Amino acid sequence: MNVMGVVGSTRDSNVSGVHKLVSTVLENTGVDYDLVSLKGKQIIGCTSCLGCVKDNVCKVKDDMVELREQIVKADAYVIGAPNFYSTLNATTHAFMERWYQFRHQTADILWGKLAVSVGIGGLDAQPVVDQMDKFFMYNFIEPVAHVTGQGAAACFTCGYGETCQVGVPVALYGPDVKITEDIIPDVAKQPDVMQSAIDAGKLLGNRLKNGHDRREVTQRMQQKMMEAFKRAT
Ligand SMILES: Cc1cc2nc3c(=O)[nH]c(=O)nc-3n(C[C@H](O)[C@H](O)[C@H](O)COP(=O)(O)O)c2cc1C
Repeated sequence: MNVMGVVGSTRDSNVSGVHKLVSTVLENTGVDYDLVSLKGKQIIGCTSCLGCVKDNVCKVKDDMVELREQIVKADAYVIGAPNFYSTLNATTHAFMERWYQFRHQTADILWGKLAVSVGIGGLDAQPVVDQMDKFFMYNFIEPVAHVTGQGAAACFTCGYGETCQVGVPVALYGPDVKITEDIIPDVAKQPDVMQSAIDAGKLLGNRLKNGHDRREVTQRMQQKMMEAFKRAT
């Protein structure tokens, strides 16, 4: 069993809440895993060239080429992203758009696999996991758990956080905010969030170790997608 962990934050791992949570989920799966960071990777969004429709292999030559092998090999995914403007950051979005290469004809490369969605927001992380779950659904992958936490918006350390009228510190604490270490959000200091990451890892590990039925998961996710399409029309 192999889980592919993906950190979609482009910040250094020591300040990234996404990195902390994705790592915690992976460490608690009890199965083999690889951790990939998208920081520094050159991955453009899907160009809709349709070069992949015949063989399910994207023809765009960038850092997605080497990641494709890992995606194919993995039995499950733990993908984390920060909230940028109420959705996934563009780096993670581009990475996931390129999964379009797996969505043609009867290609069942991803079908029935499992996942955990991880979201971090300076204020709100929910839109991230909601969006990520849609990506998983389109690929008939079941998200078995979500983990959301509050990360440290860069405004806490940009140097203008106490006076910036549109920054997160003023939004959270008002115009007289004094930035001290203890008010900077850190997922490691959010016990409920850390526990949910541990629980998500254990749940994913157990589902994998118990040998889930990929066909059954696929059918369930297909059903879910049809219902979502019906609601949208
Ligand atoms: C361009 C940009 C847009 C952002 N937009 C939002 C937002 O709409 N909502 C929110 O809750 N946080 C927003 N944030 C804050 C990030 O989600 C937050 O800094 C998070 O901790 C980043 O994850 P990381 O710590 O793993 O890098 C934004 C940050 C940036 C840089």
